[in-house]
Amino acid sequence: MYQEFSQVYDELMKEINYSEWTDYLKRIFLNSQSEIKDVLEFGCGSGNITLKLASSGYNMTAIDISEDMLTVADEKASRQGIKNISFYMGDMTNFYLDYQYDAVIACCDTVNYLHDLDEIQSFLMCSRDCLKSGGLLMFDINTATKYKKVIKDNTFIYNLDDVYCVWENEPEPEKNCVHFNLTFFVKNEDGTYNRYEENQTQYYYQLEDIHHCLLNLGYKNLKYFNFGTFLQGSNDGDRVQIVAEKK
Ligand SMILES: C[S@@+](CC[C@H](N)C(=O)[O-])C[C@H]1O[C@@H](n2cnc3c(N)ncnc32)[C@H](O)[C@@H]1O
Repeated sequence: MYQEFSQVYDELMKEINYSEWTDYLKRIFLNSQSEIKDVLEFGCGSGNITLKLASSGYNMTAIDISEDMLTVADEKASRQGIKNISFYMGDMTNFYLDYQYDAVIACCDTVNYLHDLDEIQSFLMCSRDCLKSGGLLMFDINTATKYKKVIKDNTFIYNLDDVYCVWENEPEPEKNCVHFNLTFFVKNEDGTYNRYEENQTQYYYQLEDIHHCLLNLGYKNLKYFNFGTFLQGSNDGDRVQIVAEKK
C-alpha cells in the first residue's frame, strides 16, 4: 500500500486544506489542560500535517507503515530545512518507543485502514503507552454514513496536470468496508504515461464501539467533534474528530 501512489498522493490531495486542518489540531491542543510540545503522529503519510506542526514549533515524531510515503515526507522536510521531525517506519498497531509524548495524533482516515476492533484496540494501547499521564490522543475517522452515502460504489476521476487517476469503489457491507481500486497514469517528461494500480481497503466503525474500547483502556474526557468544529459529532456526520485523555 502507498508505494507508487506515494509519488502522486500530494497531487491527488490538492483540494485538502492542510493549513486549516493543522490549525484545527492546534486549537484542540490549546484547549487542553496541559502544554503540548512533543507530538507523536501515526500514519504521517507524505508529512503534510507533520511539516506544518513542526514549522509551528512542535517536536514531531512521525511514523508510517509505508517506506515510500516516509521517503516523500523526509525529502520535503529536508527541502524545507525542517529539522525537528524524527521519522520511523512502523505499524501503529504494534509500536513502542521508550518516550512519553504530550499528544498522539492520527489524521485523515488513517484509523480507517485498521481492519477490525482488535486492531483499533491495539492502536489505542500503543498510543496510551506512548502518552504522558494527561496526554491527548486525537484521531479522526470517516463514518459509516460517509462510506454508505458519499463514497458508495462511486467512481471518481481526477484529471490533473501530471496525473490521471480512476478511483473505483467497491463496497463490501458484510465486512463493514469499501475496497478502493485505483488506476493512475503518471505523465513522464517526454509526454508518455506510466500506468500503476493500487488496491486499498478502508473499514468503518460505530462511535459507540470506539467509545467502549477507549473506556476499557482507561482513557477519560472522551470527546467526539463534528470534524472542523467543537460541536458534538455523531455517526450521521461524514468525519468525526475524536479526542481522549490518558489518565
Ligand atoms: C490517507 S493517508 C493519510 C496521511 C496523512 N496523515 C495525511 O493527512 O495526509 C493514511 C496513511 O496511513 C498509513 N498507514 C496505514 N496503516 C498504517 C499502520 N497500520 N501503521 C502506520 N501507518 C499506517 C498509510 O501508509 C498512509 O500513509
